[in-house]
Amino acid sequence: MEATHNISLKKYNTFGIDVAAETFYNITTTEKLKELLKEYKNKKLFILGGGSNMLLTQDIKPPVLHIDLKGIEEVSQTDDTIIIKAAAGENWHNFILHCIDLNYGGLENMSLIPGNVGTAPIQNIGAYGVELKDCFYSCEAININTQETRIFTKEQCEFGYRNSIFKNELKGQYIITSVNFELTKKNHQLRTSYGAIQEALDAKKIELPTIKNISEAVIAIRQSKLPDPEKLGNSGSFFKNPVVDIDTFKIFQNKFPEAPFYKVSETQFKIPAGWLIEQAGFKGKRFNDAGVHKNQALVLVNYGNATGKEIWALAMKVKDAVYKKFGVVISPEVNIF
Ligand code: EPU
Repeated sequence: MEATHNISLKKYNTFGIDVAAETFYNITTTEKLKELLKEYKNKKLFILGGGSNMLLTQDIKPPVLHIDLKGIEEVSQTDDTIIIKAAAGENWHNFILHCIDLNYGGLENMSLIPGNVGTAPIQNIGAYGVELKDCFYSCEAININTQETRIFTKEQCEFGYRNSIFKNELKGQYIITSVNFELTKKNHQLRTSYGAIQEALDAKKIELPTIKNISEAVIAIRQSKLPDPEKLGNSGSFFKNPVVDIDTFKIFQNKFPEAPFYKVSETQFKIPAGWLIEQAGFKGKRFNDAGVHKNQALVLVNYGNATGKEIWALAMKVKDAVYKKFGVVISPEVNIF
C-alpha cells in the first residue's frame, strides 16, 4: 500500500500542532489495515483517529496509520430500539446528526464533541450527564499483533470516567474498527438534568423537548463555552476532573467551602479542574501562542503557531500552580506524544 512521506500532521490534530509524520498511510478498508499490521509486525506504529485527544510534541517517526474507515449501517431492531453500527473513521458529531435525523435517541447530549467514532470508546467520552457507555452496545477491534478481529461487549470494555480497558490492560493492543450503539426509536430517555440544558430549553420556551431540541441546546452551550477547533486549536478538556477520597475532600472543603463538587460515591468526590485552574489565576492567560481558554479554564488552546512543547510546558505550569494552591493533583486527559 502506498505511503506518503514527510507530511505535516497539522490538519490531522485538533490542537493544530505542526509536526511531521515520516510515513503516513490513509486506511479506508479493514483488509488494508490488516495487511499493514502484518507488514509492520512487532514494529512501533502510531494509530491516528480524529486527532482530537492528543498533544503532539515531536515529529512522529513510526508509521502513522490514519484510520479513515467509513460507513453507517442498521444492524437489527425491535419496536423500541435499534442497533446501529458506525465505522471508526466516521466523524462523531456527523454520526449523531444522522441518528437524530432518523429519530434515534441516546447520543444527543454528546453532540459536537470533536473526534471520530472509533476513538470515542477508548476514553468513554461524555458530556452533559451522558457518557458513551450509556448507548454503547459492542465494538469490533483488530488485534495489532495477530490481526485477529475481536468483538468487545460493553462489560468487556470496563468503562469508567474517561476510561476503558483500551487505556489500561489492552493499551496499544487493539485498533477499534467499528462501534455498535443501542439507541431508542421512541420513548426517548431525555436527560435535561444538567443545569445548563434545562436553562437553554426554558429560554426557548420548549416544554416537551425532542432529541433534536436537546442536541441544539448542547450545541449552543458548547459553542458559548468551548472553542471551535477549526478556529482555535484545542483538544477539549486538557485535564480530567480530579477524583479525591473523602478525607482529602474534607480538608479541601474546609479550606475552600465555595468550591463546586460532585459526589461520585460515599467515599469519593470529583472537583472541577476548571474551577481549580481559574482560582489559580490561569483562566484566559496566554504565553506566546499557548493559552488557557477565556471561557473554560479546563481547555488549553493554540493561538496559531504554538508547539506541542509550549502547550505541554503551560500544562505543567498550571498543574504545579493548582497543586501549590489546593494540594490537589490534576492530570491530563489528552494523550501526549
Ligand atoms: N468552572 C469554573 N471555571 C472554569 C470552568 C469551569 O469555575 O473555567 C466550574 C463551573 O462553574 C462548574 C464546574 O466548574 O461549577 C464544572 O464546569 P463545566 O460544567 O463546564 O464542566 P467541566 O467539569 O469543566 C466536563 C467535561 C467536559 C464536558 C462538560 C459538560 C471533563 C474533564 N470534562 O467539564 O468534557 O463537556 O463536563 O458535561 O470531564 C472534554 O472531555 O473534552 C470535555 C469538554
